[in-house]
Amino acid sequence: MYNVVQLFFRFCLCLLAELHLYEAILQRPNIMISARYATYLTGESVFLECQTTADFTIHGYKFFKNNVEVGGGMEASTMNKYRIRTAKRSDAGSYTCLYWVSDARGRQESEVSLPESVSIIDQPSTPSLSVKPQQSLYFEGETVTLECEHPIVNSQISYQFYKDTTKLHSYLDTRKSEYHISSLSTKDSGAYDCEYSVLGHQRTIPSGKSGKQSIAVTALSTSPLMKFLPSYITFITGENLTMECEAPTPVDVTIYRFYKEGEELKGPSSHKGIYKLQNVTKEDQSEYTCMYWSPKSKREIPSTQSAIRELYIIDPLHPPLFLVDPPSGRIRDGGNVTLYCAAPEEYERTKFHFLNATDEIISVSPYKHQKTAAVTINMRKSNSTSATNYFCQYTAEIKGRLLLSPKSPQIEIIVIAAGSFLWLIAIGVSAGIVVLLILLSLIYWVLLAKKDKKKDTEEAKPIRNSRACLAIQSAVS
Ligand SMILES: *[C@@H]1O[C@H](CO)[C@@H](O)[C@H](O)[C@H]1NC(C)=O
Ligand SMILES: *[C@@H]1O[C@H](CO)[C@@H](O)[C@H](O)[C@H]1NC(C)=O
Ligand SMILES: *[C@@H]1O[C@H](CO)[C@@H](O)[C@H](O)[C@H]1NC(C)=O
Ligand SMILES: *[C@@H]1O[C@H](CO)[C@@H](O)[C@H](O)[C@H]1NC(C)=O
Repeated sequence: MYNVVQLFFRFCLCLLAELHLYEAILQRPNIMISARYATYLTGESVFLECQTTADFTIHGYKFFKNNVEVGGGMEASTMNKYRIRTAKRSDAGSYTCLYWVSDARGRQESEVSLPESVSIIDQPSTPSLSVKPQQSLYFEGETVTLECEHPIVNSQISYQFYKDTTKLHSYLDTRKSEYHISSLSTKDSGAYDCEYSVLGHQRTIPSGKSGKQSIAVTALSTSPLMKFLPSYITFITGENLTMECEAPTPVDVTIYRFYKEGEELKGPSSHKGIYKLQNVTKEDQSEYTCMYWSPKSKREIPSTQSAIRELYIIDPLHPPLFLVDPPSGRIRDGGNVTLYCAAPEEYERTKFHFLNATDEIISVSPYKHQKTAAVTINMRKSNSTSATNYFCQYTAEIKGRLLLSPKSPQIEIIVIAAGSFLWLIAIGVSAGIVVLLILLSLIYWVLLAKKDKKKDTEEAKPIRNSRACLAIQSAVS
């Protein structure tokens, strides 16, 4: 009996050993996914492969999804590959496989592989591109924002924008769904679309491109011409001036605008291209520009700015200083007189004019930045018979405008005839002689009187004394 038990025990040991042997031989296989990633999109094909290093004939394979056998079918089971032709969300799961061999003892299965999980996500929905603001036509310098819109995706996303099918690299943060163009130029005209990619699944999943949005950018209209009327740029305080803005070609202008150092000026007819400045002051000295707007494709397209017009405001000119040499203004016939004219300030160009009551005698243009001028004139009695008033004025060129100063104070110049001059001397000399004679006769008379007095005091003393006494007495009484 003991032997039988021992025999049975040995048989069992033997069986266990053989089974163990088999188990040792039928090593656990590996399940492999053909791609490097484990996330598939619905509709894609998934390939799974059961790999083993065994060098004996394997008779079949089994694939499991979430521990439930899949695939089945004799054909599939002899292959070490399992294929999901068009993945559905329901195909997601944890996949395993095993292989089996068949011998005299029947079918022997290997251990189940370690699981590989496969996830299936929906194809990202195609985005749509929106353009804000939406315009039929844009003009240079405008701002536009393109946005790649799509339903929320619970993954990291990167965006790509395309212009005429070329990828744009000018936006920096690809995580932002917005592409901002802050100042459009005509080069930005084109057809735009966008795409996004879902990241974070060991693969990049593109969404497919949105529909195209076209952007048309037009250049600004040609700059207008800005004019001052009167046409100079220097004005005197208190003067009036009109500014005119002119579109270069006969375009349809909707509105004109004037600017003083960038600030818009509003006047009663400024929208018509006319702006009036009355009674100008120093505060009006500034830089002026203008612009116009014209309609195009249901939009108002601005022009580029006109060239800058500078306006200078000056105080009225002061009268010059006028001097003559000799200062008395009395000139002998044929003598020289020097006239001096001095402007109070230096100007780019100054021209001095010397005038008398009726004519301009001479004008002098000294060198640049000279404030004074002098002329010497040979005076003749024939020119003027009596006293004549002379004065001077100057013309100053200030930023292209010629201005005439007020008149200087007048100085009287008298030309004395050479003959009468001698005659005067003769009179002077004879008058001197007469005065001398009178003086001499006076002295003589005084001396004579003194001599007489001496005689009188000696002869008429008592009488004079009595007369004095009488005078004293009458004064007392
Ligand atoms: C400027 O215009 C006003 C109003 O039209 C007028 O009264 C004034 O005389 C003008 N001034 C000058 C300097 O022309
Ligand atoms: C012109 O401006 C000056 C100074 O601002 C002022 O005194 C004068 O009354 C103004 N004249 C006219 C016509 O407006
Ligand atoms: C007047 O000036 C001229 C030229 O400067 C000179 O030739 C002439 O002699 C001067 N006459 C007198 C009287 O000084
Ligand atoms: C005076 O008259 C003469 C000719 O009559 C002329 O040459 C000269 O320039 C005149 N002088 C003045 C100061 O008017």
